[in-house]
Amino acid sequence: MPTIGDLSLYFHLPFCRKKCPYCDFYVVTDPSLKTSFLKGILQELFFYSSLLENSRLVSIYLGGGTPSVFPEGCEKILQALSPFIDPSVEITCEVNPEDLSEELVSRLKQAGVNRLSIGVQSFQRPLLNVIKRPFPSVEAIEKAHKTISNLSIDKLEIVLWAFSIASTLGKGLLITLRRGL
Ligand SMILES: C[S@@+](CC[C@H](N)C(=O)[O-])C[C@H]1O[C@@H](n2cnc3c(N)ncnc32)[C@H](O)[C@@H]1O
Ligand code: SF4
Repeated sequence: MPTIGDLSLYFHLPFCRKKCPYCDFYVVTDPSLKTSFLKGILQELFFYSSLLENSRLVSIYLGGGTPSVFPEGCEKILQALSPFIDPSVEITCEVNPEDLSEELVSRLKQAGVNRLSIGVQSFQRPLLNVIKRPFPSVEAIEKAHKTISNLSIDKLEIVLWAFSIASTLGKGLLITLRRGL
């Protein structure tokens, strides 16, 4: 079989604690479905193994949903892909701020994750109240940042979902962007 070329994989892990009112993504709030979901994903990976064998894996993105409420799922997926992963592969995992703990980050790192995407949305409490997200305190974010640095994960993305609602709250967007930087 000829080489297919570079391959980037996205896995949608749809599990969330609750559905945010603004979210348009496919989300599941019943954790009892995790086992059958994972079984299906692993079967599909097996089905596509010849594709993997004949391409160069360049990136893996574990998105959601909230992959940080399903670390065992992230681990199993990366374990199944391990024969195709070399140190150059960028492996991102989306994490909700309230889940960021040293234990979670080291677990993800151990599984191969080398880039985190943190869904902060905003550093402004009024903005977070509008979109009904828990407010991560500055201390919590600083602690998380320290944990991530200590564990040598140097690729970090902070997702700010403030653009479409910021106009209603004046300078909230600017403050949020400055904090994020
Ligand atoms: C689908 S979420 C998954 C990661 C994580 N659960 C979170 O909430 O950050 C990824 C990002 O999509 C963005 N998002 C959610 N709903 C959106 C919408 N309706 N339109 C545009 N972006 C949205 C948010 O900024 C969120 O951080
Ligand atoms: S936590 Fe993220 S994926 Fe889940 S409902 Fe909220 S925005 Fe959507």
